[in-house]
Amino acid sequence: MLSLVVLISGGGSNLRALLEQTEHADFPARVVAVGADRDAGGLSYAEAHSVPSFTVPFSSYPGREEWGAALLEHIQQWQPDLVVLSGLMRLLPASVVGALSPRMLNTHPAYLPEFPGAHAVRDALASGVAETGASVIVVDEGVDSGPVLAQRRVPILPGDTEASLHSRIKAVERALLADVIRDIAEGTTRLEEHITA
Ligand code: GRF
Repeated sequence: MLSLVVLISGGGSNLRALLEQTEHADFPARVVAVGADRDAGGLSYAEAHSVPSFTVPFSSYPGREEWGAALLEHIQQWQPDLVVLSGLMRLLPASVVGALSPRMLNTHPAYLPEFPGAHAVRDALASGVAETGASVIVVDEGVDSGPVLAQRRVPILPGDTEASLHSRIKAVERALLADVIRDIAEGTTRLEEHITA
């Protein structure tokens, strides 16, 4: 059974799906704690599922290094097998990536390396492409640049807005993440082959 710490910044709909997934007896992972860099709405899902949470507000620290060190301390208290960035809208300092790599995953709402960064859905829509996608990667020191573990295409439909497209992409992100976690637990995906730092 893999233990997971999940980090969020926002509404946490993907976290919610993961919490529901991990409550199935046959799913080989459990969320042991949820962390956030701000007072994120999604922390309510941790509470609803009786999962402990912690907040390490970025604004309470003089800089990224200090914030990262405090975040890492919280994460390590749980000794997780895996850390999942599920909408954490903050670049982690290299010291944190180095301490956790390759056992840290990120989901991204585009078919990487296409459309990295914080506005992937908006950028895909604006570019006029016919399809975008979703990816699950191993976190490295760059922005959405780590090794891809799973990805799937998502078509852009006529009349799509950023919200409608993002919500279809998130459904794919959730499915991919669950598959990747299962594959890691069962040993068919070996993270050691993806050391990034
Ligand atoms: C997801 O698309 C995630 O990949 C991105 O932010 C979104 C998080 O959504 N970085 P939510 O907070 O889980 O609803």
